[in-house]
Amino acid sequence: MKRIVILISGRGSNMEAILNARLPVQIAAVISNEPTAKGLATAQSHNIPTAVVPHRAFTDRETFDAALAMEINRYQANLIVLAGFMRVLTEEFVVRYLGRMINIHPSLLPSFTGLHTHQRALEAGVRLHGCTVHFVTPGLDSGPIIAQAAVPVLADDTEDTLAGRVLAEEHRIYPQAIRWLCEGRVKLADDTVVYADVATARGTLISPAFDDHL
Ligand code: GRF
Repeated sequence: MKRIVILISGRGSNMEAILNARLPVQIAAVISNEPTAKGLATAQSHNIPTAVVPHRAFTDRETFDAALAMEINRYQANLIVLAGFMRVLTEEFVVRYLGRMINIHPSLLPSFTGLHTHQRALEAGVRLHGCTVHFVTPGLDSGPIIAQAAVPVLADDTEDTLAGRVLAEEHRIYPQAIRWLCEGRVKLADDTVVYADVATARGTLISPAFDDHL
């Protein structure tokens, strides 16, 4: 059975969705850079081993990343899953886990990399927004895309309502992407995502919707 390590920094709702999905994988550990991350208690309540590598205890990114890698390697993970992990990782760290580390980002990449994606989507006036699972490469939020889910942006949306609609889809596509990876149905080959036995998407999401009579 494939072993995965999940990295979090806070709430951990994506981590919880992964735990609840009962995937045919072993969740070897949940690691946080924040000692107070709420997700740590959730992981413990699922009897998942947890660890904290507190970034503030390190003088620079290199030493933090080296300590993080040492902790990750204790669990002999096949896949590293970033789930709301709010640290920018060094190139050396990312290259070490290339093709074995994935992230979920709350926008339809390549739109809205970085922070405050929902507010920026509202300001930009996009009618579709969403989330993206991608392989982690040295560029921020720019690795090869594995899966995306789109949701409509509604006329009365606030940052919170839009974030909630996107988050519900994050909780669906992240466990599914992990399943594909662990079953060998998705992999990274020469900077390209290769699929095996993964169905093509059907249907079109139009936003706002057409009138019913059209
Ligand atoms: C999610 O929106 C995720 O896309 C982003 O950070 C948020 C983490 O939420 N990277 P949670 O900790 O999984 O609840």
